[in-house]
Amino acid sequence: MTVFGTGYLGATHAACMAELGFEVLGVDVDEAKVASLREGRVPFYEPDLEPLLQKHVASGALRFTTSAEEAAAFGDVHFVCVGTPQRKGEHAADLRFVDSVIESLAPHLDREALVVGKSTVPVGTAQRLAARLAELAPSDQVELAWNPEFLREGFAVEDTLRPDRLVVGVASERAEKVLREVYATAIAAGTPFLVTDFPTAELVKVAANSFLATKISFINAMAEICEATGADVTMLADAIGHDARIGRRFLNAGLGFGGGCLPKDIRAFMARAGELGVDQAVTFLREVDAINMRRRGRVVDLAREVLGGSVLGTRIGVLGAAFKPNSDDVRDSPALNVAGQLQLQGAAVTVYDPKANGTARAVFPTLGYAESAVEAATGADVVLLLTEWAEFTQMDPSALEGVVAQRRIIDARNALDPARWRDAGWTYRSLGRP
Ligand code: UDX
Repeated sequence: MTVFGTGYLGATHAACMAELGFEVLGVDVDEAKVASLREGRVPFYEPDLEPLLQKHVASGALRFTTSAEEAAAFGDVHFVCVGTPQRKGEHAADLRFVDSVIESLAPHLDREALVVGKSTVPVGTAQRLAARLAELAPSDQVELAWNPEFLREGFAVEDTLRPDRLVVGVASERAEKVLREVYATAIAAGTPFLVTDFPTAELVKVAANSFLATKISFINAMAEICEATGADVTMLADAIGHDARIGRRFLNAGLGFGGGCLPKDIRAFMARAGELGVDQAVTFLREVDAINMRRRGRVVDLAREVLGGSVLGTRIGVLGAAFKPNSDDVRDSPALNVAGQLQLQGAAVTVYDPKANGTARAVFPTLGYAESAVEAATGADVVLLLTEWAEFTQMDPSALEGVVAQRRIIDARNALDPARWRDAGWTYRSLGRP
């Protein structure tokens, strides 16, 4: 089989398919990425992925190429795992990478083949791509299927090898049979395997992400109410989370969601619903997005308040740059956004992230970067915890007390024990907790 695209999704999918015993050819237009992967180096941080890649590159089960023609000759099943980023200045998704896979692959498909889309796309895309495949492929035995991916960064290998569920949108029994063979291991282990049509499969992904985003913004909205009333949002979340219908997961109030998926997926969904004339069905997502973006401003306001009204001329130590722990991904990262806003308002900001200093520096070169939490906090008038890496949440207040200018900490992820920091003489502030 082949896997087009070698980003978070594609590289993980390719290595995991090799782990399941398939001969895999990874395809990417980026020669530097392909060169790095051929040497067994993953060009981003994802726990467990590099050893898996190295194992299968060494055995020869996993190879990489830039040639779509070679891929067409090699594979019977072709996975499409390229990115669908938000278009500049718009909410809609940019489908140029998905389209170009079909355009470059299809003309070489001269025998039976199944093309399986995994990228997150606006509903209706699969139907359009199926028609284009039929137009371009020399063989009439070429078919499309849609198989959305639900992996989380930081758990990508685990989620791919042991998914919660498998969803396949198919147009024929043959396509279903091929995908049952591909996922035989997971199916045998009891993973639910849901067979749907194209639009349902496409929608499952955006509906799931919309629900998760809504859950986070719901609890962040409650945090705003808690702040106005002196209530504690973490206790509120624990209490409502005991209701099995609600559940405690994804109810962590704080700085809100970022990353390469949730923000752009809810925006693309609103844009697509607008095109379909059903925008009213998802206007609540506008509110979900707005609540989420307000969290960033709230942390900046809190820093200003703690610093006596202005951040101008102050020193701020920032712990965390990635959009979440166990990742070096800074796409739409709330942490980096807050650090940037504080710098724009005249603070000297020094950031430390265990894995994301490099990716952060590439998009935000003007911020200061430190090699440790202690270095970032040195001389700080306030320390901000913006990404809840275990390295920070397990930190003893005494580790920082000798280096900071003032013992003040803002816990924007509700990840620290307030009593512990207050007992150690710190001014502790957080979002939604008194
Ligand atoms: C998400 C979905 O979980 C995944 O199923 C989909 O395939 C891709 O998008 P991911 O972007 O890797 O995965 O991150 P996730 O763990 O879902 O976290 C998203 C954001 O929400 C992070 O910024 C995180 O900090 C934030 N978050 C999560 C909260 O603010 N509170 C929570 O309770 C949970």
